[in-house]
Amino acid sequence: MKYYLGIDIGTSGTKAVCFDEQGKACCSKTEEYEMFVLKPGYAEENPFDWFTATKKVISYITNQGYEISGIGLSGQMHGLVLLDDKDQILRNSIIWCDNRAILEAEELKKNIGNLVLQYTGNEVVPSFTLAKLLWVKNNEPEIFQKIHKIMLPKDYVRYMLTHSFTTEYSDASGMQMVDIFQKKYAKPILDYLEIKEEQLPILKESYEISGYVCKDLVRELNLKEHCFVVGGAGDQAAAALGNGIVEFGDVSLVLGSSGVVFSPILKGQAKQTNLQIFMHAIPDTYHVMGVTNGCGLSYKWVKEEVIQDKSYLELNEFACQSPPLSNGVFYLPYLNGERTPHMDPYATGTWIGIRQNTTQKDLIRSVLEGVAYSLKDCFTCLPKTEYHIHITGGGAKGDLWREIIASVLNCPVTRIQQDEGGALGVAILAMVADQVYPSIKDAIAHIIRPLDVVKPNLTWVDLYKKGHPLYQNIYQSLKEFYKKAFKI
Ligand code: XUL
Repeated sequence: MKYYLGIDIGTSGTKAVCFDEQGKACCSKTEEYEMFVLKPGYAEENPFDWFTATKKVISYITNQGYEISGIGLSGQMHGLVLLDDKDQILRNSIIWCDNRAILEAEELKKNIGNLVLQYTGNEVVPSFTLAKLLWVKNNEPEIFQKIHKIMLPKDYVRYMLTHSFTTEYSDASGMQMVDIFQKKYAKPILDYLEIKEEQLPILKESYEISGYVCKDLVRELNLKEHCFVVGGAGDQAAAALGNGIVEFGDVSLVLGSSGVVFSPILKGQAKQTNLQIFMHAIPDTYHVMGVTNGCGLSYKWVKEEVIQDKSYLELNEFACQSPPLSNGVFYLPYLNGERTPHMDPYATGTWIGIRQNTTQKDLIRSVLEGVAYSLKDCFTCLPKTEYHIHITGGGAKGDLWREIIASVLNCPVTRIQQDEGGALGVAILAMVADQVYPSIKDAIAHIIRPLDVVKPNLTWVDLYKKGHPLYQNIYQSLKEFYKKAFKI
C-alpha cells in the first residue's frame, strides 16, 4: 500500500494527514503557532514557524511507520512572504486577514484598478498579496529594496522542503498579479509595483510535481528517497477538492477561520460578480468564491473574550437554549472587515438588539446566525442553478450550526465521510501525480462518500427569511458609521 501526505499550512496551525490510496485517513498531526496582532487590523505570522511545524508533523507521521510516496501542500492564501538574496526571511508574513493595506488598495484602485480587474477578475482588496506588497514598498522601502523572492505561505514551505521556487494557479490567482485567463503573470501589474517576474515563483498545475524533498530533510524527517511534492492548492481550492466539489452546481461551504462559499463556474461565467473569481485546482477550471472573514474567528473570539470559561461543546449547548432569531439579537461577523459581497475593510463586528434580559445564550446563537446570514449574502450571488452543498471545516461539526445554515440558505447541506478537507484535496493531487488515479475527477468519484444530510427546518426557514433582510439593513445603516469611526 502506498501512502500520501496532505499538509495544510493554516492560520492557527499546520495539519498533516496521511492517506492510503483509497483516501482513507490513517494518521494525522497538527502543530499550532502564533499569530501576531501588533495593531488593530494587523495580522502577521513567522514563515519559519510554518516550516518548523511542517517538519514536526511530517516526523510524527513517518515515525508511526508510514512510508510517504508523495506530498501535497495546501495553505492559507494571499499571505506575503519575502526573502532576500540569501533566502533569509525579510519580515514576518503579512497574512490574509491583515487589513493594513487599505490606502494601498485605494491607490491601486485609482491607478490600475481596471487593469487588475481585467487580468485577475477581481477588484483590488487589502487582503490580497498585491496591496500588501505595495504597503511594504510604501512603508518599508529598505525591505522592499532587498526583496529577491516573493511567495505565498505554502510555497515558502515547498521552497524549504524542495528548494523549488514554484507555485500553482489556484493560490497564485489570489495574489492579484496573475492574468488568470492567459495563465501567466500580468506584466503591467508587475511594472506598476516595479517588480520582475524572476522575483515570483514559477506557475504550474496543481497536480504537477514541483520538486523532491531535499536529501538532508529526507534523512531528518525519516522520509523515503524521491518523495515528491505536487503543486497543491490554496486552502479553499484544496478544501473544495477534498469536499468533492468539481462540477458547476457543486458548492463547498467551509466553516473555518473564514467562512467560504466556493462553486465551480462554467466557461464564460468568469466575469465580474460580487464574489471573487479564482482558478480551481482542476486544470482550466474557474470558480467563484464568497468569503466572510470572521466565521470561526467570530466563534473563537466569543469563546475567548466574551464567555471565557466554556468549551466549544458547552457553547453549542448554550446556543441550543436560545430560540431562532436569538431573542432579537443580531450579530455582524465583520471582526476583520468584510470581503464579499461588501468588500468593506472598515466594517467591524457588531451586536445589535441587546436588552436587559439578553443572555449569553442569545449572544452565542446570534453569532452562529450572523455568520449564516453573511454566507447567505455570498450564496445569493452564485450563478443560478440547482445546488449540491457539501459542508466542512471545524464549524460543520456543530449540529446546531449546520441546521441554522441549512435553514438560512433553505437548502439541504451534506457532510461527507471524509472530513479532512484541504489535506485530502492535496493528497488526491499527489495520488493523481503518481498515477494512482487517471484524473482528479476519477479520484474524487472513487474516494468521496456522503455521511449525512441536514435539511432546512421549515419553521426556522420562515423566521430566517424575515431575519435576513433585517441583518442586511443593519450593515446598510452602519456603513458610513464604520468608515467615519475608522478615520477617527
Ligand atoms: C481565501 C482566504 C482564506 C485564507 C485563510 O481567499 O482568504 O481562505 O486562505 O483560510
